[in-house]
Amino acid sequence: MKLPNGPKTPRLLQQIQWAADPISYMEAMAKSYGDIFTTSVFDSRPSILVSNPQALKQMFARENKDFSLPGKDKKRLNPLVGNQSLLLLEDESHLRQRKFLMPPFHGARMRTYGQLICDITEKVMDRQAIDTPFSIRSAMGDIALQVLLEAVFGFHEGERCTQFRELIVSLMKPLTFVSLFFPFLRLDLGSWSPWGQFLRTRQQIDHMIYAEIKERRQKLDPESTDILSLLMSARDEAGQAMTDKELRDQLMTLLLGGSATTENVMTWLCYWVHKKPDVQNKCLKELEDLGASPDPVKIFQLPYLTAVCNETLRIYPIDMFTSPRIAKSSLELMGYELSPGTALYGCIYLLHHRQDLYPEPKQFKPERFLERKFSSYEFMPFGGGVRRCIGEILAQYEMKLVLSTIVSHYQLELADDQEARPPRATLAPDVKMVLRGKRNNPETARPNEVLLTRK
Ligand code: HEM
Repeated sequence: MKLPNGPKTPRLLQQIQWAADPISYMEAMAKSYGDIFTTSVFDSRPSILVSNPQALKQMFARENKDFSLPGKDKKRLNPLVGNQSLLLLEDESHLRQRKFLMPPFHGARMRTYGQLICDITEKVMDRQAIDTPFSIRSAMGDIALQVLLEAVFGFHEGERCTQFRELIVSLMKPLTFVSLFFPFLRLDLGSWSPWGQFLRTRQQIDHMIYAEIKERRQKLDPESTDILSLLMSARDEAGQAMTDKELRDQLMTLLLGGSATTENVMTWLCYWVHKKPDVQNKCLKELEDLGASPDPVKIFQLPYLTAVCNETLRIYPIDMFTSPRIAKSSLELMGYELSPGTALYGCIYLLHHRQDLYPEPKQFKPERFLERKFSSYEFMPFGGGVRRCIGEILAQYEMKLVLSTIVSHYQLELADDQEARPPRATLAPDVKMVLRGKRNNPETARPNEVLLTRK
Protein backbone atom coordinates (compact mmCIF):
# COMPACT_ATOMS: atom_id res chain seq x y z
CA MET A 1 0.00 0.00 0.00
CA LYS A 2 1.28 3.46 -0.81
CA LEU A 3 0.34 7.09 -1.42
CA PRO A 4 -0.80 7.79 -5.00
CA ASN A 5 1.99 8.92 -7.36
CA GLY A 6 2.63 12.54 -8.12
CA PRO A 7 5.24 14.95 -9.44
CA LYS A 8 8.63 15.01 -7.72
CA THR A 9 9.45 18.54 -8.89
CA PRO A 10 9.92 21.17 -6.13
CA ARG A 11 6.72 22.58 -4.67
CA LEU A 12 7.50 26.14 -5.79
CA LEU A 13 7.91 25.03 -9.40
CA GLN A 14 4.58 23.21 -9.28
CA GLN A 15 2.94 26.28 -7.81
CA ILE A 16 4.32 28.44 -10.63
CA GLN A 17 3.01 25.96 -13.23
CA TRP A 18 -0.34 25.93 -11.46
CA ALA A 19 -0.59 29.72 -11.22
CA ALA A 20 0.35 30.16 -14.90
CA ASP A 21 -2.17 27.67 -16.26
CA PRO A 22 -4.13 25.46 -13.84
CA ILE A 23 -5.91 23.51 -16.57
CA SER A 24 -2.67 22.53 -18.34
CA TYR A 25 -1.09 21.61 -14.98
CA MET A 26 -3.97 19.29 -14.07
CA GLU A 27 -4.11 17.72 -17.53
CA ALA A 28 -0.37 17.07 -17.54
CA MET A 29 -0.54 15.50 -14.07
CA ALA A 30 -3.47 13.26 -15.02
CA LYS A 31 -1.63 12.14 -18.16
CA SER A 32 1.48 11.19 -16.18
CA TYR A 33 -0.04 9.84 -12.96
CA GLY A 34 -3.63 8.81 -13.71
CA ASP A 35 -6.94 9.69 -12.12
CA ILE A 36 -5.78 9.69 -8.47
CA PHE A 37 -2.56 11.62 -7.90
CA THR A 38 -0.72 13.47 -5.15
CA THR A 39 0.17 17.13 -5.45
CA SER A 40 1.65 19.73 -3.15
CA VAL A 41 0.42 22.85 -4.96
CA PHE A 42 -2.22 23.69 -2.34
CA ASP A 43 -0.45 22.82 0.88
CA SER A 44 2.90 21.59 2.22
CA ARG A 45 1.03 18.44 3.28
CA PRO A 46 0.15 16.08 0.42
CA SER A 47 -3.21 16.67 -1.24
CA ILE A 48 -4.82 14.09 -3.48
CA LEU A 49 -6.80 14.99 -6.58
CA VAL A 50 -9.41 12.38 -7.45
CA SER A 51 -11.19 12.12 -10.80
CA ASN A 52 -11.96 8.39 -10.65
CA PRO A 53 -15.75 7.88 -10.27
CA GLN A 54 -15.35 4.75 -8.13
CA ALA A 55 -12.99 6.54 -5.75
CA LEU A 56 -15.33 9.55 -5.59
CA LYS A 57 -18.22 7.26 -4.71
CA GLN A 58 -16.19 5.78 -1.84
CA MET A 59 -15.01 9.21 -0.70
CA PHE A 60 -18.57 10.57 -0.42
CA ALA A 61 -19.96 7.35 1.09
CA ARG A 62 -17.33 7.45 3.85
CA GLU A 63 -17.21 11.22 4.37
CA ASN A 64 -18.91 11.19 7.80
CA LYS A 65 -16.99 8.22 9.19
CA ASP A 66 -13.47 8.57 7.83
CA PHE A 67 -13.09 12.24 6.92
CA SER A 68 -13.56 15.65 8.43
CA LEU A 69 -14.86 18.48 6.25
CA PRO A 70 -13.25 21.76 7.23
CA GLY A 71 -14.96 25.02 6.41
CA LYS A 72 -13.40 27.34 3.87
CA ASP A 73 -10.42 29.56 4.73
CA LYS A 74 -11.73 31.58 7.69
CA LYS A 75 -9.03 34.26 7.56
CA ARG A 76 -9.94 35.12 3.99
CA LEU A 77 -13.71 34.94 4.04
CA ASN A 78 -14.71 35.86 7.58
CA PRO A 79 -14.67 39.64 6.95
CA LEU A 80 -17.13 39.18 4.09
CA VAL A 81 -19.49 36.39 5.12
CA GLY A 82 -19.09 36.32 8.93
CA ASN A 83 -18.22 33.49 11.31
CA GLN A 84 -21.71 31.91 11.20
CA SER A 85 -21.54 31.41 7.42
CA LEU A 86 -22.30 27.97 6.04
CA LEU A 87 -19.01 28.18 4.16
CA LEU A 88 -16.95 28.48 7.34
CA LEU A 89 -18.83 26.22 9.75
CA GLU A 90 -18.06 22.56 10.32
CA ASP A 91 -19.76 19.46 11.73
CA GLU A 92 -22.94 19.97 13.78
CA SER A 93 -23.13 23.75 13.40
CA HIS A 94 -22.71 23.39 9.61
CA LEU A 95 -25.48 20.77 9.48
CA ARG A 96 -27.77 22.98 11.58
CA GLN A 97 -27.47 25.87 9.10
CA ARG A 98 -27.93 23.52 6.12
CA LYS A 99 -31.17 22.24 7.64
CA PHE A 100 -32.45 25.81 7.75
CA LEU A 101 -31.33 26.60 4.21
CA MET A 102 -32.30 23.48 2.31
CA PRO A 103 -36.13 23.70 2.40
CA PRO A 104 -36.30 27.23 0.89
CA PHE A 105 -34.07 26.05 -2.00
CA HIS A 106 -36.12 22.90 -2.62
CA GLY A 107 -37.06 22.18 -6.26
CA ALA A 108 -40.82 22.69 -6.01
CA ARG A 109 -40.32 26.11 -4.38
CA MET A 110 -38.26 27.39 -7.30
CA ARG A 111 -41.31 27.67 -9.57
CA THR A 112 -42.27 30.73 -7.49
CA TYR A 113 -39.33 32.55 -9.06
CA GLY A 114 -39.91 31.49 -12.69
CA GLN A 115 -41.72 34.58 -13.95
CA LEU A 116 -39.43 36.82 -11.91
CA ILE A 117 -36.33 35.42 -13.65
CA CYS A 118 -37.89 35.88 -17.13
CA ASP A 119 -38.94 39.47 -16.31
CA ILE A 120 -35.50 40.43 -14.96
CA THR A 121 -33.86 38.95 -18.07
CA GLU A 122 -36.06 41.03 -20.36
CA LYS A 123 -35.42 44.21 -18.37
CA VAL A 124 -31.66 43.77 -18.58
CA MET A 125 -31.66 42.77 -22.26
CA ASP A 126 -34.00 45.63 -23.23
CA ARG A 127 -31.39 48.06 -21.89
CA GLN A 128 -28.81 46.98 -24.50
CA ALA A 129 -28.41 49.30 -27.48
CA ILE A 130 -29.03 47.79 -30.93
CA ASP A 131 -25.94 47.09 -33.10
CA THR A 132 -23.52 48.09 -30.33
CA PRO A 133 -21.16 45.50 -28.80
CA PHE A 134 -21.75 44.94 -25.10
CA SER A 135 -20.29 42.67 -22.43
CA ILE A 136 -22.57 39.65 -22.04
CA ARG A 137 -20.79 38.85 -18.76
CA SER A 138 -21.76 42.17 -17.31
CA ALA A 139 -25.39 41.69 -18.47
CA MET A 140 -25.45 38.20 -16.94
CA GLY A 141 -23.95 39.64 -13.73
CA ASP A 142 -26.79 42.18 -13.56
CA ILE A 143 -29.37 39.41 -14.00
CA ALA A 144 -27.73 37.10 -11.43
CA LEU A 145 -27.53 39.85 -8.80
CA GLN A 146 -31.07 41.09 -9.35
CA VAL A 147 -32.47 37.54 -9.08
CA LEU A 148 -30.67 37.11 -5.74
CA LEU A 149 -31.86 40.49 -4.44
CA GLU A 150 -35.48 39.69 -5.30
CA ALA A 151 -35.66 35.94 -4.64
CA VAL A 152 -33.38 35.81 -1.58
CA PHE A 153 -33.78 39.21 0.07
CA GLY A 154 -37.23 40.14 -1.25
CA PHE A 155 -35.85 43.53 -2.37
CA HIS A 156 -37.97 44.38 -5.38
CA GLU A 157 -37.41 47.38 -7.66
CA GLY A 158 -37.27 50.70 -5.82
CA GLU A 159 -34.93 53.00 -3.93
CA ARG A 160 -33.97 50.46 -1.25
CA CYS A 161 -33.22 47.81 -3.88
CA THR A 162 -31.09 50.23 -5.95
CA GLN A 163 -29.15 51.40 -2.90
CA PHE A 164 -28.50 47.85 -1.73
CA ARG A 165 -27.44 46.72 -5.22
CA GLU A 166 -24.96 49.60 -5.49
CA LEU A 167 -23.46 48.72 -2.11
CA ILE A 168 -23.08 45.06 -3.04
CA VAL A 169 -21.47 45.91 -6.39
CA SER A 170 -19.02 48.17 -4.57
CA LEU A 171 -18.25 45.49 -1.95
CA MET A 172 -17.53 42.83 -4.58
CA LYS A 173 -14.98 44.96 -6.47
CA PRO A 174 -11.87 43.02 -7.60
CA LEU A 175 -9.63 45.17 -5.36
CA THR A 176 -11.59 44.08 -2.29
CA PHE A 177 -11.06 40.47 -3.23
CA VAL A 178 -7.32 41.03 -3.48
CA SER A 179 -7.36 42.25 0.15
CA LEU A 180 -9.39 39.22 1.20
CA PHE A 181 -6.78 36.91 -0.32
CA PHE A 182 -3.79 38.87 1.05
CA PRO A 183 -4.65 39.88 4.63
CA PHE A 184 -1.53 42.10 4.89
CA LEU A 185 -3.27 44.51 2.46
CA ARG A 186 -6.07 45.05 4.97
CA LEU A 187 -5.11 48.56 6.02
CA ASP A 188 -7.84 50.98 6.96
CA LEU A 189 -6.38 54.26 5.73
CA GLY A 190 -9.71 56.01 5.47
CA SER A 191 -12.55 55.74 3.01
CA TRP A 192 -10.30 56.30 -0.01
CA SER A 193 -8.19 53.17 0.69
CA PRO A 194 -9.61 49.88 -0.68
CA TRP A 195 -9.84 48.21 2.73
CA GLY A 196 -11.22 51.34 4.40
CA GLN A 197 -13.87 51.50 1.70
CA PHE A 198 -14.67 47.81 2.17
CA LEU A 199 -15.23 48.24 5.91
CA ARG A 200 -17.48 51.27 5.43
CA THR A 201 -19.50 49.62 2.67
CA ARG A 202 -19.90 46.45 4.73
CA GLN A 203 -21.14 48.51 7.65
CA GLN A 204 -23.80 50.13 5.46
CA ILE A 205 -24.85 46.73 4.08
CA ASP A 206 -25.08 45.25 7.58
CA HIS A 207 -27.11 48.22 8.71
CA MET A 208 -29.61 47.67 5.86
CA ILE A 209 -29.83 43.90 6.47
CA TYR A 210 -30.36 44.23 10.23
CA ALA A 211 -32.96 46.99 9.70
CA GLU A 212 -34.79 44.73 7.24
CA ILE A 213 -34.72 41.80 9.70
CA LYS A 214 -35.97 44.02 12.53
CA GLU A 215 -38.83 45.37 10.40
CA ARG A 216 -39.88 41.88 9.36
CA ARG A 217 -39.66 40.52 12.90
CA GLN A 218 -42.24 43.16 13.82
CA LYS A 219 -44.63 42.16 11.03
CA LEU A 220 -43.63 39.08 9.06
CA ASP A 221 -45.89 38.74 6.02
CA PRO A 222 -46.98 35.06 5.89
CA GLU A 223 -47.53 35.43 2.12
CA SER A 224 -43.89 36.43 1.42
CA THR A 225 -42.07 33.90 -0.73
CA ASP A 226 -38.53 35.29 -0.56
CA ILE A 227 -35.87 33.14 1.07
CA LEU A 228 -35.20 35.59 3.93
CA SER A 229 -38.85 35.42 5.02
CA LEU A 230 -38.82 31.62 4.84
CA LEU A 231 -35.63 31.44 6.88
CA MET A 232 -37.13 33.75 9.50
CA SER A 233 -40.17 31.49 9.89
CA ALA A 234 -38.10 28.29 10.14
CA ARG A 235 -37.40 26.49 13.44
CA ASP A 236 -34.85 23.79 14.27
CA GLU A 237 -35.66 20.53 16.13
CA ALA A 238 -35.43 22.38 19.45
CA GLY A 239 -37.94 24.98 18.22
CA GLN A 240 -35.22 27.66 17.91
CA ALA A 241 -35.30 30.28 15.14
CA MET A 242 -32.19 31.63 13.40
CA THR A 243 -30.55 34.57 15.19
CA ASP A 244 -30.12 37.92 13.42
CA LYS A 245 -26.39 37.23 13.05
CA GLU A 246 -27.00 33.79 11.52
CA LEU A 247 -29.50 35.29 9.09
CA ARG A 248 -27.10 38.08 8.11
CA ASP A 249 -24.19 35.68 7.58
CA GLN A 250 -26.24 33.23 5.47
CA LEU A 251 -27.57 36.09 3.31
CA MET A 252 -24.02 37.26 2.61
CA THR A 253 -23.03 33.64 1.91
CA LEU A 254 -25.83 33.22 -0.62
CA LEU A 255 -24.80 36.46 -2.32
CA LEU A 256 -21.19 35.33 -2.52
CA GLY A 257 -22.01 31.74 -3.54
CA GLY A 258 -24.74 32.63 -6.00
CA SER A 259 -23.65 35.73 -7.90
CA ALA A 260 -20.29 35.16 -9.64
CA THR A 261 -20.99 31.43 -10.21
CA THR A 262 -24.25 32.09 -12.02
CA GLU A 263 -22.82 35.10 -13.90
CA ASN A 264 -19.95 33.00 -15.25
CA VAL A 265 -21.99 29.96 -16.18
CA MET A 266 -24.67 32.02 -17.95
CA THR A 267 -21.95 33.86 -19.89
CA TRP A 268 -20.59 30.53 -21.13
CA LEU A 269 -24.12 29.40 -21.95
CA CYS A 270 -24.78 32.48 -24.13
CA TYR A 271 -21.39 32.05 -25.76
CA TRP A 272 -21.89 28.38 -26.70
CA VAL A 273 -25.45 28.77 -27.94
CA HIS A 274 -24.48 31.69 -30.19
CA LYS A 275 -21.23 30.05 -31.27
CA LYS A 276 -23.09 26.95 -32.47
CA PRO A 277 -26.05 27.88 -34.71
CA ASP A 278 -27.31 24.28 -34.80
CA VAL A 279 -27.50 24.26 -30.99
CA GLN A 280 -29.39 27.56 -31.03
CA ASN A 281 -31.82 26.32 -33.66
CA LYS A 282 -32.53 23.12 -31.71
CA CYS A 283 -33.20 25.17 -28.55
CA LEU A 284 -35.54 27.45 -30.50
CA LYS A 285 -37.39 24.53 -32.05
CA GLU A 286 -37.91 22.92 -28.65
CA LEU A 287 -39.19 26.20 -27.20
CA GLU A 288 -41.51 26.87 -30.15
CA ASP A 289 -43.06 23.44 -29.67
CA LEU A 290 -44.22 24.58 -26.21
CA GLY A 291 -46.38 27.27 -27.83
CA ALA A 292 -46.75 30.94 -26.92
CA SER A 293 -45.96 32.05 -23.31
CA PRO A 294 -44.87 28.62 -22.06
CA ASP A 295 -45.00 27.71 -18.38
CA PRO A 296 -41.50 28.11 -16.81
CA VAL A 297 -41.84 24.62 -15.29
CA LYS A 298 -42.28 23.15 -18.78
CA ILE A 299 -39.20 25.06 -19.95
CA PHE A 300 -37.24 23.65 -17.01
CA GLN A 301 -38.11 20.11 -18.11
CA LEU A 302 -37.04 20.48 -21.77
CA PRO A 303 -34.54 17.70 -22.58
CA TYR A 304 -32.39 19.49 -25.16
CA LEU A 305 -32.19 22.73 -23.15
CA THR A 306 -31.17 20.63 -20.12
CA ALA A 307 -28.48 18.91 -22.19
CA VAL A 308 -27.13 22.31 -23.34
CA CYS A 309 -26.93 23.55 -19.74
CA ASN A 310 -25.26 20.32 -18.59
CA GLU A 311 -22.70 20.45 -21.39
CA THR A 312 -21.92 24.07 -20.45
CA LEU A 313 -21.38 23.02 -16.82
CA ARG A 314 -19.28 20.05 -17.95
CA ILE A 315 -16.84 21.65 -20.32
CA TYR A 316 -15.72 24.49 -18.03
CA PRO A 317 -17.08 23.71 -14.56
CA ILE A 318 -17.26 26.86 -12.44
CA ASP A 319 -15.59 25.18 -9.46
CA MET A 320 -12.74 22.91 -10.43
CA PHE A 321 -12.77 21.03 -7.10
CA THR A 322 -15.11 19.87 -4.38
CA SER A 323 -14.30 20.97 -0.84
CA PRO A 324 -11.51 18.86 0.68
CA ARG A 325 -12.15 15.76 2.79
CA ILE A 326 -9.42 15.31 5.42
CA ALA A 327 -8.51 11.76 6.55
CA LYS A 328 -9.21 11.47 10.30
CA SER A 329 -6.85 8.50 10.72
CA SER A 330 -4.76 6.15 8.54
CA LEU A 331 -7.09 4.68 5.98
CA GLU A 332 -7.24 2.81 2.72
CA LEU A 333 -8.88 4.07 -0.47
CA MET A 334 -8.75 2.14 -3.76
CA GLY A 335 -5.60 0.31 -2.63
CA TYR A 336 -3.77 3.47 -1.54
CA GLU A 337 -2.82 4.25 2.04
CA LEU A 338 -3.65 7.72 3.32
CA SER A 339 -2.04 9.05 6.47
CA PRO A 340 -4.06 11.16 8.95
CA GLY A 341 -4.43 14.75 7.75
CA THR A 342 -4.24 13.91 4.03
CA ALA A 343 -6.63 16.11 2.03
CA LEU A 344 -8.71 14.58 -0.77
CA TYR A 345 -10.28 16.82 -3.41
CA GLY A 346 -12.77 15.66 -6.03
CA CYS A 347 -11.33 17.17 -9.23
CA ILE A 348 -14.45 18.21 -11.13
CA TYR A 349 -12.55 19.50 -14.16
CA LEU A 350 -10.61 16.27 -14.77
CA LEU A 351 -13.68 14.13 -14.08
CA HIS A 352 -15.64 16.09 -16.71
CA HIS A 353 -12.82 15.61 -19.23
CA ARG A 354 -12.42 11.84 -18.94
CA GLN A 355 -12.19 10.30 -22.42
CA ASP A 356 -14.01 7.14 -21.32
CA LEU A 357 -17.04 9.11 -20.07
CA TYR A 358 -17.00 12.05 -22.47
CA PRO A 359 -15.40 11.15 -25.84
CA GLU A 360 -13.84 14.24 -27.50
CA PRO A 361 -14.06 16.07 -24.17
CA LYS A 362 -12.92 19.43 -25.57
CA GLN A 363 -15.85 19.53 -28.01
CA PHE A 364 -19.16 21.13 -27.02
CA LYS A 365 -21.67 18.33 -27.67
CA PRO A 366 -24.97 18.58 -25.75
CA GLU A 367 -26.17 15.34 -27.40
CA ARG A 368 -23.91 13.30 -25.10
CA PHE A 369 -26.35 14.09 -22.27
CA LEU A 370 -29.26 12.75 -24.35
CA GLU A 371 -27.41 9.59 -25.36
CA ARG A 372 -26.59 8.40 -21.84
CA LYS A 373 -27.25 9.16 -18.19
CA PHE A 374 -24.32 10.10 -15.99
CA SER A 375 -24.20 9.19 -12.31
CA SER A 376 -23.53 11.81 -9.63
CA TYR A 377 -19.94 10.50 -9.46
CA GLU A 378 -19.44 11.04 -13.20
CA PHE A 379 -20.97 14.51 -13.53
CA MET A 380 -20.73 16.80 -10.51
CA PRO A 381 -20.76 20.51 -11.40
CA PHE A 382 -22.36 21.25 -8.01
CA GLY A 383 -20.02 19.05 -5.94
CA GLY A 384 -21.40 16.35 -3.66
CA GLY A 385 -21.96 15.07 -0.16
CA VAL A 386 -22.71 17.28 2.83
CA ARG A 387 -21.22 20.36 1.19
CA ARG A 388 -23.07 20.00 -2.11
CA CYS A 389 -24.21 23.34 -3.54
CA ILE A 390 -27.28 24.72 -1.77
CA GLY A 391 -28.30 26.83 -4.78
CA GLU A 392 -28.14 24.03 -7.38
CA ILE A 393 -31.83 24.03 -8.35
CA LEU A 394 -32.08 27.82 -8.36
CA ALA A 395 -28.98 27.98 -10.57
CA GLN A 396 -30.36 25.39 -13.02
CA TYR A 397 -33.74 27.09 -13.11
CA GLU A 398 -32.07 30.42 -13.75
CA MET A 399 -29.78 29.08 -16.49
CA LYS A 400 -32.69 27.58 -18.40
CA LEU A 401 -35.10 30.49 -18.05
CA VAL A 402 -32.51 33.15 -18.84
CA LEU A 403 -31.32 31.26 -21.92
CA SER A 404 -34.82 30.48 -23.16
CA THR A 405 -35.87 34.14 -22.72
CA ILE A 406 -32.80 35.33 -24.60
CA VAL A 407 -32.98 32.94 -27.55
CA SER A 408 -36.72 33.26 -28.01
CA HIS A 409 -36.94 37.08 -27.68
CA TYR A 410 -33.63 38.51 -28.86
CA GLN A 411 -31.52 38.21 -31.96
CA LEU A 412 -27.99 38.21 -30.63
CA GLU A 413 -24.64 37.57 -32.27
CA LEU A 414 -21.11 37.17 -31.00
CA ALA A 415 -19.14 40.32 -31.77
CA ASP A 416 -16.24 38.26 -33.21
CA ASP A 417 -15.43 34.71 -34.31
CA GLN A 418 -12.68 34.11 -31.80
CA GLU A 419 -12.64 30.92 -29.76
CA ALA A 420 -13.29 31.93 -26.13
CA ARG A 421 -10.93 30.54 -23.49
CA PRO A 422 -11.25 30.81 -19.72
CA PRO A 423 -9.04 33.77 -18.72
CA ARG A 424 -8.13 32.15 -15.40
CA ALA A 425 -9.11 28.79 -14.08
CA THR A 426 -12.71 28.36 -15.17
CA LEU A 427 -13.88 31.96 -15.08
CA ALA A 428 -15.84 32.99 -18.14
CA PRO A 429 -14.12 35.36 -20.55
CA ASP A 430 -15.44 38.86 -21.16
CA VAL A 431 -17.31 37.88 -24.35
CA LYS A 432 -18.73 40.76 -26.38
CA MET A 433 -22.09 40.30 -28.11
CA VAL A 434 -24.25 42.46 -30.34
CA LEU A 435 -28.02 42.78 -30.16
CA ARG A 436 -29.44 42.91 -33.69
CA GLY A 437 -33.10 43.21 -32.70
CA LYS A 438 -36.01 41.58 -30.98
CA ARG A 439 -37.55 38.52 -32.52
CA ASN A 440 -40.99 38.84 -34.04
CA ASN A 441 -40.76 42.60 -33.70
CA PRO A 442 -41.43 44.08 -37.15
CA GLU A 443 -39.57 47.27 -36.27
CA THR A 444 -36.31 45.54 -35.44
CA ALA A 445 -36.50 42.19 -37.25
CA ARG A 446 -33.71 41.41 -39.73
CA PRO A 447 -33.85 39.28 -42.90
CA ASN A 448 -32.21 36.25 -41.27
CA GLU A 449 -34.71 36.28 -38.43
CA VAL A 450 -37.14 34.30 -40.55
CA LEU A 451 -34.52 31.59 -40.81
CA LEU A 452 -33.72 31.64 -37.13
CA THR A 453 -37.29 31.49 -35.94
CA ARG A 454 -38.23 28.77 -38.45
CA LYS A 455 -41.36 30.54 -39.59
C1 HEM B 1 -24.25 27.45 -11.88
C2 HEM B 1 -24.07 28.00 -10.70
C3 HEM B 1 -23.40 27.34 -9.53
C4 HEM B 1 -22.39 26.40 -9.51
C5 HEM B 1 -21.69 25.74 -10.70
C6 HEM B 1 -22.11 26.11 -8.11
C7 HEM B 1 -21.18 25.17 -7.67
C8 HEM B 1 -20.91 24.92 -6.34
C9 HEM B 1 -19.92 23.97 -5.88
C10 HEM B 1 -19.05 23.08 -6.79
C11 HEM B 1 -19.93 23.99 -4.52
C12 HEM B 1 -19.02 23.18 -3.59
C13 HEM B 1 -19.60 21.80 -3.37
C14 HEM B 1 -18.66 20.83 -2.67
O1 HEM B 1 -17.79 21.26 -1.94
O2 HEM B 1 -18.81 19.61 -2.88
C15 HEM B 1 -20.93 24.96 -4.11
C16 HEM B 1 -21.23 25.26 -2.79
C17 HEM B 1 -22.16 26.22 -2.43
N1 HEM B 1 -22.98 26.93 -3.27
FE1 HEM B 1 -23.05 26.84 -5.27
N2 HEM B 1 -22.94 26.88 -7.33
C18 HEM B 1 -23.74 27.63 -8.15
C19 HEM B 1 -24.75 28.51 -7.76
C20 HEM B 1 -25.09 28.77 -6.47
C21 HEM B 1 -26.21 29.61 -6.07
C22 HEM B 1 -27.20 30.30 -7.04
C23 HEM B 1 -26.19 29.67 -4.71
C24 HEM B 1 -27.10 30.39 -3.76
C25 HEM B 1 -27.97 31.30 -4.07
C26 HEM B 1 -25.07 28.84 -4.26
C27 HEM B 1 -24.72 28.65 -2.93
C28 HEM B 1 -23.75 27.78 -2.50
C29 HEM B 1 -23.40 27.59 -1.09
C30 HEM B 1 -24.01 28.34 0.08
C31 HEM B 1 -22.41 26.61 -1.04
C32 HEM B 1 -21.72 26.05 0.21
C33 HEM B 1 -22.42 24.79 0.70
C34 HEM B 1 -21.81 24.24 1.99
O3 HEM B 1 -20.63 24.52 2.27
O4 HEM B 1 -22.52 23.51 2.69
N3 HEM B 1 -24.45 28.31 -5.35
N4 HEM B 1 -21.51 25.50 -5.23
